[in-house]
Amino acid sequence: MTNKIKKYTPGFNIHDVEKKYNLKKVVKLASNENPFISKDVISYIKKSTHKLNLYPDSNPVNLHSEIAKLIGYRMTNKNIILGNGSNEILELIVRSTLNHKSEVIIPKHSFLVYEIISKIQHAKVITSKPDTNKKENNYLGIDLNSIYEKITSNTKLIFIANPANPTGTYLPLKYIEEFLRIIPKKILVILDEAYYEYLDSSFQKSAVSLINKYKNLYVTRSFSKIYGLASLRVGYGISNPENIEKLKLYKQPFNTNYFAQQTAGIALKDFHFINESKKNNSDAMQQFKKVFDELSINYLGTYCNFITFRAGTCSGSLFEYLLTKGVIIRPLNNYKLPEYLRVSLGSPSDNKVFIKYLKEFYDGTTK
Ligand SMILES: Cc1ncc(COP(=O)(O)O)c(C=O)c1O
Repeated sequence: MTNKIKKYTPGFNIHDVEKKYNLKKVVKLASNENPFISKDVISYIKKSTHKLNLYPDSNPVNLHSEIAKLIGYRMTNKNIILGNGSNEILELIVRSTLNHKSEVIIPKHSFLVYEIISKIQHAKVITSKPDTNKKENNYLGIDLNSIYEKITSNTKLIFIANPANPTGTYLPLKYIEEFLRIIPKKILVILDEAYYEYLDSSFQKSAVSLINKYKNLYVTRSFSKIYGLASLRVGYGISNPENIEKLKLYKQPFNTNYFAQQTAGIALKDFHFINESKKNNSDAMQQFKKVFDELSINYLGTYCNFITFRAGTCSGSLFEYLLTKGVIIRPLNNYKLPEYLRVSLGSPSDNKVFIKYLKEFYDGTTK
């Protein structure tokens, strides 16, 4: 087992691709951002006369209360901590929990940040096996039995993303509750719900509902996805008040900036925008699935704002081909899924460009 830290490689950026391929327009479908921004957020930013010379609020209790009210399940401001993206919350939990004697269990093909931040703490990363039951919707997603089998007396933390990135799979809450019930209570569990808001309402039963019951549970959420604020870096953690107080000892005093706090409060209440974003996402998902089916391309779980599809041995050439046409998607070699590519669901016009060149590529090659 090597503890070498691998660098996180973000999606290519638009300017670099424009320059490299001498393109006038580049479409980025690589980092699972919302293609839209709330109009209320835009008009707030335009009108704001905020004094940039002042530090932001270090403990924005009103925003904590608004978030708590919105998520429900009897949460209060004391259950919430705000972070510079939900990544910061993951990092605070890891820093407050892991050391060189700890083991952390991370499901195979998980969001890479989990491994990076755990290794920075010198913890031993144990990888659980993916679900390989092709009949289930969870193919290559998280296998809770495998996680359970990997638990030892040194296990301190378990990461579970639900829905998961990059596999896009989803585990019903009843399995998660059963898992929490049987594992030793001294092991902390992070339920990463960065993509929760994209779930169909019939699946929206959050692990937050288990927080009052399981003191070892942390849930994280993001404003970078459906709320459309990726650039401002804001996310939050939810746990029992004692855990939250402990995490606050590890955070920098001004970890979230003023605009992040204000716009999070605005986006949270822009229900029209959230509903429209969700509708755009499900329409795009239907459209992409149809195209992949037509081209006989297999894809994984479809519960998020992206779709991970199997391009087989063509994945490298397809990725490169799309780049030359000005479409950035995401290769998944780093996630040990070299035959797969991940494409975010974008605006109708950006999706059209991706579909055009995807079809063009497959028309010109044999899989
Ligand atoms: C599963 C998962 N968790 C957390 C994050 C981090 O989100 P944030 O922008 O809130 O730091 C991402 C971002 O892509 C993600 O895919």
